Amino acid sequence: MISDDIKINEETSMAGGHLPVMLEEAVGLLNVRPNHLYIDATAGAGGHLKRICQKAGSGKGIIAMDQDSLALHKLSVNSGPLANEIKFVHSNFANLKTALSDLDINTVDGGIIADLGISSNQLDDSQRGFSFQRQGPLDMRMNTNNRITAADLVNDLNETELANIIYKYGEERSSRAIAKAIIKNRPFANTSELANVVEKVVRYRGHKSKLHPATRTFQALRIAVNNELENLEIFLEQANSILTPGARLVIITFHSLEDRIVKRFFTHMASPCICPPRQPICTCNKKRELLIITPKPLIAGEQEILTNIRSRSAKLRAVEKLP
Ligand SMILES: C[S@@+](CC[C@H](N)C(=O)[O-])C[C@H]1O[C@@H](n2cnc3c(N)ncnc32)[C@H](O)[C@@H]1O
Repeated sequence: MISDDIKINEETSMAGGHLPVMLEEAVGLLNVRPNHLYIDATAGAGGHLKRICQKAGSGKGIIAMDQDSLALHKLSVNSGPLANEIKFVHSNFANLKTALSDLDINTVDGGIIADLGISSNQLDDSQRGFSFQRQGPLDMRMNTNNRITAADLVNDLNETELANIIYKYGEERSSRAIAKAIIKNRPFANTSELANVVEKVVRYRGHKSKLHPATRTFQALRIAVNNELENLEIFLEQANSILTPGARLVIITFHSLEDRIVKRFFTHMASPCICPPRQPICTCNKKRELLIITPKPLIAGEQEILTNIRSRSAKLRAVEKLP
């Protein structure tokens, strides 16, 4: 589960206080080789990107993609001389193939990394409306060109629609009671007003978890506003389709809904057959497309969790494209 109590230590990435999660493990699994193309599909503050650049040296090119134009701009400004090695692409990773074909790129021979969710920089900016601990507009859009904000969902959806979002994307047991209270108390103008109402409901119903009572509801709204799970599914399909044999795909997830999607996709693509188990002869003609490099997901070590609390819920999975 995503936690809001981000601790920042003195190590910083290219643009500000975001600490890259499982940096060495993730970039190690990407198997960065000179003269190969690498894409960071969620470049954010550039922590993983910077390490990829260091390992790849100058060669075939590195692409930094992010759907947040502000994050991408800051990253390009803070990249210094490295910016000459990097192509900055403002796009949702669900449009990976189109964004790359606009650059005349149809295949990736090095690898693709995606470190999902939001960065500490986005969370810490109260005006983005991601945090229940900072008063700001109920926005939560990673791409501010998109139309729908969290305020639109909270103030316009009916009770059932809201309860379904909070249950499905937040795995929140009090979803119905929260939706009811939202309807009763709306319209909401800012994050604090919403967080207070949710907190009251969840505490009244006997909140026992260490998480702040509004964590799950805010996560759910963010996932819905940004269409995160559907975009992840589309991205995985597209990434797999453009990798050439030997290229790697590395994904870091932060909650079980994302991890389940990644795990299922990798398992399906790594499977040589999808015939029913009792069928004596294989008729599915399924091809094994991916080799799973991490049979179990990697998790952050104790030391990293101490310095970067955000890493505590991270899971890292990697695959390699088969011939
Ligand atoms: C956890 S941060 C990445 C941090 C980065 N790895 C680093 O070390 O600084 C996630 C970033 O991915 C971006 N993002 C999330 N979903 C995206 C999507 N569907 N398409 C493109 N960018 C996305 C967010 O805007 C955010 O900047």
